[in-house]
Amino acid sequence: MQVVVKRDKPELVAADVLAVFLRQEKTLPSKSVVAQLDARLGGRIRDYLDSGDFSGALNSTVLVRTGGTIQAPRVLLVGLGKPEACTIDALRQASATAATTARRLGVNSMALLPPAYDVESGEVGQALTEGALLGLYTLKKYKTAPENEDKDNLRDLHILASGSTVQRALENGVQRGQILAAAVNLARDLSNSPGNEVNPSYLAQTAREIAERTTLRCHVLDVDGMREHQMGCLLGVAQGSNQPPAFIILEHAPKGAREKPIVLVGKGLTFDSGGISIKPAANMEDMKMDMSGGATVLGTMQALAQLGYPRRVVGLVPSSENLPSGNAVKPGDILRAMSGKTVEVINTDAEGRLILADALVYAVQELKPACIVDLATLTGAVVVALGSHATGMMGTDKPMMDRLRAAGDYSAERVWELPLFDEYSKQIKSDFADIKNVSSGREAGSIIGGAFLKEFVGDTPWVHLDIAGTAWTRENRPYIPKGATGVGIRLLVKALEDMVEGVTQPTAKGEKSKAAAKPKAKAAAKAS
Ligand code: BES
Ligand code: ZN
Ligand code: ZN
Repeated sequence: MQVVVKRDKPELVAADVLAVFLRQEKTLPSKSVVAQLDARLGGRIRDYLDSGDFSGALNSTVLVRTGGTIQAPRVLLVGLGKPEACTIDALRQASATAATTARRLGVNSMALLPPAYDVESGEVGQALTEGALLGLYTLKKYKTAPENEDKDNLRDLHILASGSTVQRALENGVQRGQILAAAVNLARDLSNSPGNEVNPSYLAQTAREIAERTTLRCHVLDVDGMREHQMGCLLGVAQGSNQPPAFIILEHAPKGAREKPIVLVGKGLTFDSGGISIKPAANMEDMKMDMSGGATVLGTMQALAQLGYPRRVVGLVPSSENLPSGNAVKPGDILRAMSGKTVEVINTDAEGRLILADALVYAVQELKPACIVDLATLTGAVVVALGSHATGMMGTDKPMMDRLRAAGDYSAERVWELPLFDEYSKQIKSDFADIKNVSSGREAGSIIGGAFLKEFVGDTPWVHLDIAGTAWTRENRPYIPKGATGVGIRLLVKALEDMVEGVTQPTAKGEKSKAAAKPKAKAAAKAS
């Protein structure tokens, strides 16, 4: 879909639908653009408010025929909710509601009239774009006769600007929104796609393709490379599968950036059967999404490159399947991690922490990072603790955790901290090896996962994000359709941008192709 910022007046815009965002208030702000539009419409909007037929509740909608009073044949009123709750996320949601309503109507074009908001116009443009592009996401690849194909034809989204300064700010926001939504939708595609297609080699190939279309550098370690680095834990998990594992390294190294890198690590387990400690059959199909942390790291790296992020960042994705077989790792087996630490495998289903262990050691030893953030669908316990509305956060880097909490509130990808007291580490001491991969009881399952990872980061400042509950949703939300959510990309980009002075501007610097380098002047890049 094309997203274009236009200087048209709302009454003159030639679109199939004009979406107007309204707060949950009884009156229209006097002399506002909406009040003027309502005058042209002969008071139709006020009529809906007065009658109570439209309350302005968040994501409520009413479609109004305009009867030739303005250029667009329909106005869609979209509620933003109570004035005090009109956050940037309310705008993201309302934009998604407008876009998905337009799709349901089967129209080709829609114009959005940005509401007066407490934030800078760039943020408004970004939120409107993110909401629409994320809300319209579907994965059609595996449907031979896509449902509603004929209705799925919203092609043009116009965002209306009142003046040239606002237009430039909106365009900047639109471009940022397009970059972020493309990254999130890429991650969603990877997590929603089946394990028979998205295996470790496929993830590695995707990383190479991302590097080809950006300035990122990609390197993939195969089994021999893993043996050279003595990644015994990753190799141990992978040995039960016929699919070879892959260790993906994606580097963003902007010119002149000389400081230690920030390292992002994502669990890339492309199917988790549990291995010999096999999982129950119910919902096992969902375990194709166990590479969501890895998908988030790939998407984040793409977005950082395209945004021209000024600091050095390295993304690492250890990728493997976890299957039972005659070669599979067994309970009681002892593996040796890249650090030399020995690990007794008590439960082969606690495999995520094993593959992450080698990636964390690789980060510490080979990259000497300023800090590490890992993302993993690590434990069912975090779903019990926090459900699907907050990611579990643990770590040793207090400033980074504070930044992630703030970025989580802004991006509506919220995180909630769990403690990592030393006492928890005692619970993973093994009788036969240095440590074991699970504790004896079921208590504090997510924290035990975090305590295990902590064994491999040494003194490097580190944060662990357990996204098992937030990477997948069983219900449709305004801009998060059922299935993979792509969680973590908007969160990480915001947190990383907050680490550098000023916010990065999309300069298309990270792009190699000429086509992608154009949209600076005109934010009309094709986003889907
Ligand atoms: N991939 C799972 C965790 C998971 C659960 C992800 C639900 C997404 C949704 C992980 O590898 C796992 O199986 N963890 C075990 C750990 C246990 C054996 C200590 C779990 O949570 O049951
Ligand atoms: Zn598992
Ligand atoms: Zn897993």
